[in-house]
Amino acid sequence: SADSSTETERTLAIIKPDGVSGNHTNSVKETILNHGFKITGESFIQFDEDRVKSFYAEHSSRSFFPSLVEYMTSGPVLIMVLEKGNAVADWRALIGPTDPLKAKVTHPHSVRAICGLNLQNNCVHGSDSPQSASREISFFFKTTSSGHASQHDEL
Ligand code: PPS
Repeated sequence: SADSSTETERTLAIIKPDGVSGNHTNSVKETILNHGFKITGESFIQFDEDRVKSFYAEHSSRSFFPSLVEYMTSGPVLIMVLEKGNAVADWRALIGPTDPLKAKVTHPHSVRAICGLNLQNNCVHGSDSPQSASREISFFFKTTSSGHASQHDEL
């Protein structure tokens, strides 16, 4: 089989409400494409409370959870499936540290440094592992036989 470092991988990216409302959608997509990712599925959605609680279930016991749920339901988000070799780790590297205020110091060219506002309003999401990526992509998309992600009918 192919060298695992060059095998195509998928990850889930989300432009969060502050990214969409701050008009960062086009520049973030340009950054994604300039770094060799293909965007094989995308959709603007409005999270409702139940759906975002389910998406972030692993964080449900964290003190910030109620605030995260309120924030993520505050406006539309853009969900995207990104494809390239090493997509999961490369997208995480590109977005930078969780806290944009720290990112501005340590990773000034990262997406969160450029577009994020604060620890909560940090502009973008990226799957943290290939396992998370599979779960998160199937949370939003069904995969067609051509390998392209298309939106679930009910969205
Ligand atoms: S951890 O401890 O590694 O799980 O944390 P981290 O990966 O950095 O964060 C998990 C997700 O929670 C969001 N987050 C927050 N939201 C609101 N308020 C606070 N204080 C906060 N801290 C972390 C963080 O942005 C991550 O969301 P995603 O969508 O995965 O980027």
